[in-house]
Amino acid sequence: MKQPKPQPGILDIELYVGGKSTVQGVQDILKLSSNENPNGPPASAQKALAASAATLHRYPESDHSGLRSALADFHGLDVQKIICGCGSDELISFLCQAYSGPGVEVIHSSHGFLMYKLYAMAAGATIVPVPEAERYVDVDAMLAAITPRTGLIFLANPGNPTGTKISDADIARLIAGTPPDVLIVLDGAYADYIEDWDGGARFVKSHNNVVMLRTLSKMYGLGGLRVGWGYGPQHVIDVLNRVRGPFNLSAPALAAGEAAVRDHAFVISHRGQNNAARRWLTDELAALGVLSDPSEANFILARFADQAQAEACDDYLQSIGILVRRVGSYGLPHALRMTVPDMVGCARVVAGVKAFMEQAA
Ligand SMILES: Cc1ncc(COP(=O)(O)O)c(C=O)c1O
Repeated sequence: MKQPKPQPGILDIELYVGGKSTVQGVQDILKLSSNENPNGPPASAQKALAASAATLHRYPESDHSGLRSALADFHGLDVQKIICGCGSDELISFLCQAYSGPGVEVIHSSHGFLMYKLYAMAAGATIVPVPEAERYVDVDAMLAAITPRTGLIFLANPGNPTGTKISDADIARLIAGTPPDVLIVLDGAYADYIEDWDGGARFVKSHNNVVMLRTLSKMYGLGGLRVGWGYGPQHVIDVLNRVRGPFNLSAPALAAGEAAVRDHAFVISHRGQNNAARRWLTDELAALGVLSDPSEANFILARFADQAQAEACDDYLQSIGILVRRVGSYGLPHALRMTVPDMVGCARVVAGVKAFMEQAA
């Protein structure tokens, strides 16, 4: 039977499966499968969101000037070079649409964020996954993968699902070895958890082919609202603004996002809490024989003896209401990614893994 056909390659895209949030028959759920902030959004953002309800008949501002100004003030950036997206996901899709396509190669590290691959495929581009070295991005391997057909390079730093971060010296080496007509995307979705680090903004300031992406979904607890942003050279921002729909962010999202970014105290307090809990969780699991790499994000990647043990542990944790993330689709079937919860949640995770180990022994 005749029917409309999508563009070649679209049906090869695997459907993205989000983190699990329920288990049948279990009431007390601890959701650690989507790297969400355990504290929820700042009260300031909730207030701004509620206040926006009375003017929902108005279209949102299309230039996002309030949110962009808040971001420029807080991060010390040029407001003209900031673009906002419906999550940083949307900006990844704009980048793939504008700078890749059939015949263009898109490089990403093999354990990098899945959406690079999915949006590059949606644009008809060829994806080039590059192996990592012990779950750290391998800059030399990335440089070796560049060909005359390369259009885009995505670098998640810290990585997801690894949580590992490469140094600014390594980023500088990647940029220095990349031809100037290839666009490098520094995805700093978790940069807010690192004190005194700009997520790579300094490289955007000094290079014409570097873009930084950030999100309010993690530190700011606004994943449900969908607010991300990018910082790039003017010529790239001008291109992305042509691909962007004028009303891509809703008025409530803009209002809450701006309030959150102006809430500096929230960042300081949550960063301190996350990083202390992360250290404790990492050490306690290591004492049980479950190791993870030093993470710079709001999650850890716990490694098990093999895939069977990781899956059995996941099944056990689910049975007691703890939902973590399997990462086989990232090529890490022997590992489980766990969002760092508050200290009460951390103690529950450690007790759960300990009980699993004891009953499996
Ligand atoms: C590395 C990385 N980049 C981008 C995103 C997308 O974030 P959002 O679309 O919620 O802004 C995520 C979300 O998990 C991520 O881990």
